[in-house]
Amino acid sequence: MENRIIPDLDSLREFAKEVLDISVNKFTNQAGVIALNGELGAGKTAFVQQIAKELSIAEAITSPTFVIMKMYEIDYGQFKQLIHIDAYRIEEESEMLVLGFGELLEDKENLICIEWADNIKGLLPENQIQLNFELTGNKEERSVNIYGN
Ligand SMILES: Nc1ncnc2c1ncn2[C@@H]1O[C@H](COP(=O)(O)OP(=O)(O)OP(=O)(O)O)[C@@H](O)[C@H]1O
Ligand SMILES: [Mg+2]
Repeated sequence: MENRIIPDLDSLREFAKEVLDISVNKFTNQAGVIALNGELGAGKTAFVQQIAKELSIAEAITSPTFVIMKMYEIDYGQFKQLIHIDAYRIEEESEMLVLGFGELLEDKENLICIEWADNIKGLLPENQIQLNFELTGNKEERSVNIYGN
């Protein structure tokens, strides 16, 4: 486990870039899985927005709270799709399987970022990056615990 202090959004951008580069090297025979946890407003969506900027996605990224999942075409190493999932409203892991999550995990071209990942943790592969975001009380500052990097 590694802990990182992210003072502001510029640092979050740098951090997102680092996580992308780790992902390219780590996920060579399965989909890339970045599990995001942390309280409301901790910065899970903000992190995916910085990932999207780094991947040159032009569309505005908003939390897929009601649609659960959104996909964007990308071209970054082996990754050809960014899949942004918000598991906040998921009550049973089987709901994710109905949405085709099992197939998404099998495709090496997918980079999957999951907000509220703990809600579906039983479905996630052992090989994953986990980022646990916390508010520190200093207005723009966040602390992130990193597992699996
Ligand atoms: N260093 C930082 N890291 C992350 N977010 C920051 C930072 N500084 C400011 N913010 C702001 O904090 C807010 C974080 O909200 P965000 O929607 O990303 O939280 P969330 O964890 O996705 O919450 P939810 O559980 O509701 O989905 C955003 O408005 C973002 O711009
Ligand atoms: Mg969010």
